[in-house]
Amino acid sequence: MISAAVEPHVESFKPDNREPLPASLAPAVKAPGAQRQQNPNKRKVLFVTSEIADLVKTGGLGDVSAALPRALAHLHDVRVLIPGYPQVMDSDNPIHIVGELGGHAALPPCKIGRMDLPDGLVIYVLVCPELYQREGTPYGANNGRDWPDNHIRFARLGLAAAEMAAGEGMAHWRPELVHAHDWPAGLAPAYMHWRGLSTPTLFTIHNLAYQGVYARGCSPELAIPEHAMQQEGMEFYGKLSFLKAGLAYSSHITTVSATYAREITTPEFGCGLDGFLASKAQQGLLGGIPNGIDESWDAATDQHLHHNFSINDWEGKARNATQVRELFGLEPSEGPLFAVVSRLVYQKGLDLTLGVADYIVEKGGQIAIIGRGEPEEEQAMRELALRHPGRIGVRIGFNETDARRMFAGSDFLLMPSRYEPCGLSQMYAQRFGSLPVARNTGGLADTIENGVTGFLFNDSTLQSYREALSRAFNVFDNKDLLNAMRCLSMTQPFNWCQAVEPYARLYEDLVKQSQLAHY
Ligand code: ADP
Ligand code: GLC
Repeated sequence: MISAAVEPHVESFKPDNREPLPASLAPAVKAPGAQRQQNPNKRKVLFVTSEIADLVKTGGLGDVSAALPRALAHLHDVRVLIPGYPQVMDSDNPIHIVGELGGHAALPPCKIGRMDLPDGLVIYVLVCPELYQREGTPYGANNGRDWPDNHIRFARLGLAAAEMAAGEGMAHWRPELVHAHDWPAGLAPAYMHWRGLSTPTLFTIHNLAYQGVYARGCSPELAIPEHAMQQEGMEFYGKLSFLKAGLAYSSHITTVSATYAREITTPEFGCGLDGFLASKAQQGLLGGIPNGIDESWDAATDQHLHHNFSINDWEGKARNATQVRELFGLEPSEGPLFAVVSRLVYQKGLDLTLGVADYIVEKGGQIAIIGRGEPEEEQAMRELALRHPGRIGVRIGFNETDARRMFAGSDFLLMPSRYEPCGLSQMYAQRFGSLPVARNTGGLADTIENGVTGFLFNDSTLQSYREALSRAFNVFDNKDLLNAMRCLSMTQPFNWCQAVEPYARLYEDLVKQSQLAHY
């Protein structure tokens, strides 16, 4: 697609015929989309992530990595760095090799490929088949087990970001700021710090519970200096924590909602890092910037839906409900349809939904569940459906089309999360007129107005959950109220505009601060 426009110095990636790199890769690559970078005020930002929804995603991080760089494109030159998993290497977008990085300790050498997505988003792909060319998710095999060498795989990602920031291996585009996401990218700020780079770094926590913790003995393999093993460094109860490395060595930290930013400074939500985070917050180095949702979430135009609808026309919504019932083998019904669209993991409180399922069915409701995750949770969901044939249906797995149809066809979304850094599903559901019944925590608390655009409950208890459900059933019986709430939820201003300005300002401030500090 883009081959003709790329300079001769740039080597095309051919999976079965990897040629040695040309001796010099230095000349500037003037690629498609180059015009986007001509504004001299645009900062060059490297967005380091382990998922991007265009190519591979296991949850909301993938959605954010796809949406945020694009939303920022008019203000900054944001490019993404991601490992070359099969889903990336085998996508329809050609990859051109633009750089080469040497090995370091146990981290193997790799190449940097460049992929230009049709809309101009530039993705740098870390090409290292021995680490990334494996069938499975970004983190493990299809049986759910993590790859045993994840510390090497993601240290390689962090080191590559640091090397790019140092202008190594790929001189033609050198980031002025590195924005690293979650533990897989946590070592990027750390390697940059240990190398004495002045390039500022921003670390965003999407989920504090996943920390990338490894034995201290891994340090030499990862070229982690001895002095990093201290409380102010990446030491975590005698082990190495990639997440803590991101927190300790970045110039600034954000997380994805204001409430979660406060919660993680408390023992209940801090996952052992609350004291550390509280001290960062006191120094003004921790903030919350809420995620948005992209423009494709429009019930009137979404191509995934068989029946489009809007706040002036509910008929399409009813037809979508019929379609979801058919998809999940549910009986025709006039009662409310509840949806679960979720990773099936402890965080999401599915055991609570198991506990209220009988109540929902007794009150005339039905539940459609889609997701995958922990094998025990998957099994519990299958058993639940077997207990309530025609009333509860489960599909283990995930696909975007079914998820969108469920948001469009359901009356309510169940999201009893134990914690929720931001949560996107409740925003998607609201945009499609499905009112969330959710726990009053994190981003759920910030994006759902209790009794107006959904139903919040405070405690992770069946009683608290049931009370919110009972309010949902009452509203369902009052169609005027139901439709009024749907209208309000569908018109909530969830979009990336609200996040773009704070991120853009933060990027600018961090770059300026680091320039001042080095005069
Ligand atoms: P989280 O990132 O914690 O899973 P979010 O609500 O932020 O929660 O984002 C969920 C996103 O992931 C949505 O786009 C949703 O449709 C999608 N999703 C939900 N379950 C799965 C799954 N099992 N596999 C892949 N994506 C999923
Ligand atoms: C994580 C969180 C989720 C958040 C997403 C994107 O997966 O669990 O709450 O919305 O990241 O930031």
